[in-house]
Amino acid sequence: MSVAELSPKPQRRATAESMAQKQREISVSEFFTKNRHLLGFDNPAKALLTTVKEAVDNSLDACEEAGILPTIAVEITEISENRYRVAVEDNGPGIVKEQIPKIFAKLLYGSKFHRLKQARGQQGIGISAAGLYAMLTTGRPIAILSKTGKGRPARKVELRIDTRKNQPDVLKDEQVEWDKDHGTRVELELTGTYRGGRTGVDAYLEQSVVANPHLELTYRSPKGEVQEYPRASQELPREAQEIKPHPHGVELGMLLKMMQDSDGMSVKAALVDNFSRVSPALAQSVCDAAGVKPNKKAPDLLGEEIERLHKALGEVKVLAPPATCVVPIGEDLIVAGLKRRFHGAQYFSTTRPPAVYRGNPFVVECGLAYGGDLPLDEPAEVLRFANRVPLQYQPKACAISEAVYELNWKNYGLSQPRGSLPLAPMAIFVHLASVWVPFTSEAKEAVAHYPEMLREITLALQDCGRRLAQSLRARARLDSESKRRSLFERYIPELGASIGKITGRPRDDIAGLFLKALPNFVNMKEPPPELPPSEGGAAGGAPAALDVPSPSGEGAGQVEAPKKRKAAKSEKAGQQVEGKATKGKAQSIRAEAVKVAEKGVRAKAEDVKSSRGARRAAKSKAEVVELAGRRRTAAKGKVKKGGRGGKPGSGKKGEQLKLIE
Ligand SMILES: Nc1ncnc2c1ncn2[C@@H]1O[C@H](COP(=O)(O)OP(=O)(O)O)[C@@H](O)[C@H]1O
Ligand SMILES: [Mg+2]
Repeated sequence: MSVAELSPKPQRRATAESMAQKQREISVSEFFTKNRHLLGFDNPAKALLTTVKEAVDNSLDACEEAGILPTIAVEITEISENRYRVAVEDNGPGIVKEQIPKIFAKLLYGSKFHRLKQARGQQGIGISAAGLYAMLTTGRPIAILSKTGKGRPARKVELRIDTRKNQPDVLKDEQVEWDKDHGTRVELELTGTYRGGRTGVDAYLEQSVVANPHLELTYRSPKGEVQEYPRASQELPREAQEIKPHPHGVELGMLLKMMQDSDGMSVKAALVDNFSRVSPALAQSVCDAAGVKPNKKAPDLLGEEIERLHKALGEVKVLAPPATCVVPIGEDLIVAGLKRRFHGAQYFSTTRPPAVYRGNPFVVECGLAYGGDLPLDEPAEVLRFANRVPLQYQPKACAISEAVYELNWKNYGLSQPRGSLPLAPMAIFVHLASVWVPFTSEAKEAVAHYPEMLREITLALQDCGRRLAQSLRARARLDSESKRRSLFERYIPELGASIGKITGRPRDDIAGLFLKALPNFVNMKEPPPELPPSEGGAAGGAPAALDVPSPSGEGAGQVEAPKKRKAAKSEKAGQQVEGKATKGKAQSIRAEAVKVAEKGVRAKAEDVKSSRGARRAAKSKAEVVELAGRRRTAAKGKVKKGGRGGKPGSGKKGEQLKLIE
């Protein structure tokens, strides 16, 4: 028996006709019921976060659009194990009665999809997807309370989604009293997991207040703790202007649709009407370049003509889109936001000028918080934002993270293990504001890798990095000064005693004179407290790498000569020359000091009981003189001709020697 005979005969199970009977439309709700992971509902912890996020983002968008300073309350209550009730209430414009069912119980229904305007929501799928998930996991409807103005009635509505039709199913709709002038309260009951950490709800809210300094937020966690975030700015962000597509970004299919939709218009008029920055003269030259008659009816354009028009549109010289359509947070408010979250740190921020990807304008901003209450010796915290919304998942897939990881933070004096984040008490804030954020998925978790965006993010990070490095260097200098000063203060009493013995003058007088003269040699300013100490790499190695090595080798607390700075190369060279000059000068001062001490010893020989004591005194003197000399050379920071530190006895050193005598 052959193998073919053994295997069962394949049976035809379906015909085109039988298949046709089963073929039918799939509603968007059914699709997302099966693919809810695409919307950020793939596990219970993420589902809880996404629900809060969609509701808060909508509240913020609505308030800003209505010109209202947002005051939002978020409450999460644990109903039973893994079951939570989420309530988000805002003081926004409210929602008109007829729209409530469609907004909350119909997927792909919203006000933001068909426009090019910077907003948190884009797809019209956020809050209804949360309602769908809630209904699927607990069977409970979504409850909405909304009021559109003082004196108007409030509406309380309970809804479910009919997933087969993607239509709302209204369970309750009644007029109620609400002691609020206007606003919306959304309540959902869902299966979820409440957890802390980088991807939790608490982190999302904390980061939201950083990126939205104008937000006043009250948060009641499932543990019953209430967290209040008062407003850090009384000003609403400037309103983003809605724009039309830019001719350089348009795709062929889109152009075709635009022309077909421009009923009764000529090609030239349709181009002016549909695009930003296209004037009638520019439209004329595009038509000429494409060989298309400008007064031809737009819907009559043929396939080939459309292709030529598309090519000409892509090649024509045209102004970049107007920058007014993107609203960055702004450098000052980034700092104000960072201060709400990280305390006692040093803050830096940069807002880049607007740039364009695929015809869509965008702006990148970056902020750094360094020191303060940030943890030492841990990788820096990266806070990613798109249109002021924190991005917490998929860091590896995000262009923002790529730019942060790819940057060589060693250039700015921070230690950075290969392929990792810098180890420093630092938070890195990056915000991307755009009329259309290119997310890698509908869950809006990561930004796609457009080279234009990567470049802008890198430039913003570099700018902040440079300013951080500058500040760390200044701090390191102050630290080193303070150490040098304490060294002087330690030696002065001893010196006073020794010189007192030699000269017969009261030791306190001599020490007093030295102390009085001390500000001539060292900077008496205390380093600011907000940065972690700069020695021994306590701050993840950061400031240590930037420490200016003390010429004496002691002043900077065992800080070795910098090994790892590329950016500080020129400074390093300067320090080396400076070090040589100091060494030369110190040697001459030492010789001078020894001479002076020996003179003193001879003059007062009878008073000196032991010659060993005199030598010891002379040595201490010489040490102090040497230190003072070094300090002075370093403070001048200049290399004199021939790299020498001046002749013994000249200038200030002369004064100093006089003082000793
Ligand atoms: N709290 C709210 N206040 C006022 N309008 C809201 C509120 N929440 C949602 N909306 C309206 O409902 C629409 C749909 O919201 P959503 O499903 O989250 O989609 P998207 O935010 O992407 O547009 C929004 O575009 C907005 O017009
Ligand atoms: Mg939304």
